[in-house]
Amino acid sequence: MQWKAFALAHLVQQALGQGSMPMMRFQCSQLVVDRIDPLVNPGSIPSPHLHQIVGGNSFNATMDPATHDLPTLSTCTTCTFSEDFSNYWTAVLYFRARNGSVTRVPQIPNMGLKGNGGVTVYYIPSANKGTSVTAFKPGFRMLVGDAGAHVAGPAHKVCHRCMPASGDNSNLNCAAPDAQTLPKGFCSGGIRSVITFPTCWDGKNTDSADHKSHVAYPSSGSGPNDVGSNGVCPTSHPVKIPQLMLETIWDTRAFNKKELWPADGSQPFIWSTNDEKGFSQHGDYVFGWKGDSLQKAMDARCTGDTCSALKVQTTDQATKCSVKQLVREDVNGWLSHLPGMDPEA
Ligand SMILES: *[C@@H]1O[C@H](CO)[C@@H](O)[C@H](O)[C@H]1NC(C)=O
Ligand SMILES: *[C@@H]1O[C@H](CO)[C@@H](O)[C@H](O)[C@H]1NC(C)=O
Repeated sequence: MQWKAFALAHLVQQALGQGSMPMMRFQCSQLVVDRIDPLVNPGSIPSPHLHQIVGGNSFNATMDPATHDLPTLSTCTTCTFSEDFSNYWTAVLYFRARNGSVTRVPQIPNMGLKGNGGVTVYYIPSANKGTSVTAFKPGFRMLVGDAGAHVAGPAHKVCHRCMPASGDNSNLNCAAPDAQTLPKGFCSGGIRSVITFPTCWDGKNTDSADHKSHVAYPSSGSGPNDVGSNGVCPTSHPVKIPQLMLETIWDTRAFNKKELWPADGSQPFIWSTNDEKGFSQHGDYVFGWKGDSLQKAMDARCTGDTCSALKVQTTDQATKCSVKQLVREDVNGWLSHLPGMDPEA
């Protein structure tokens, strides 16, 4: 497929500096779109803003790590690798019309993948063949980004790319032309949002109060072209973990019409966090791979969405998996305001 040609070019580019770089890259279709956040707002029905959620169907408003074992409680997953019952979630994108109404922007599968939108999930072992990574432990969770951010955060963590009509999978780690702000003009291939998780762990805690401090980005070598766990981990967080990345392609093409955009020339897209600048996109991860399947896949240095160490399910099987929305509210069609953001409430 097309993506393979691009990936190959990318891998060759990486190989110049770092040796060949394996990277698992697979589809997790939509499980539900709901105003739930078991990591940051456990038990809240509703939580403050809307998310898209992918992965195992044990997803719930409360997922206490002491009692909620994802691989045991899930009976299906929306991910290609059927032993991955993890949950991944992000904010969702809306389009705001001139009359103030909003409508959710559809999602399409990334290059070379199939499914009902959802998220492209990456797990990248160390770019250096001699260095192994330690897969996450049961109960592990983490968060990237800040739903309340109104200014730019650290570079190369959460970003957007204005996609051309086809192709362009280069510079995976939020390097130029990606930006933390939402694109200012029409994007003929939609808007890609990328969330890049830390690759260093304190080796002890599966979570922390802010869901961030138990993990860290490398203290060196985390530059724009250093996707993968090749950087040096700080002594406080010495254990290398797989590089997790989430990508979503928002299909903005139907809105690429001058007469639909604001007359003042501003851009019309807005995250479900009520943010039209773009800084508040964020990604949540609750680990839920069965047994040691993720460790096996990392040790086998699997690439793409096939892996001899893992079980694969069909797109039909993956898209049949879903859960019911817990918060009864409309999230699709034309809405007077973003879910949870009623100015009159
Ligand atoms: C979600 O949690 C509720 C309350 O604890 C429980 O009744 C329900 O079965 C759970 N749903 C799933 C899919 O586990
Ligand atoms: C607002 O504008 C959109 C886009 O033109 C349109 O589809 C929708 O029906 C309008 N809603 C109202 C309440 O006028």
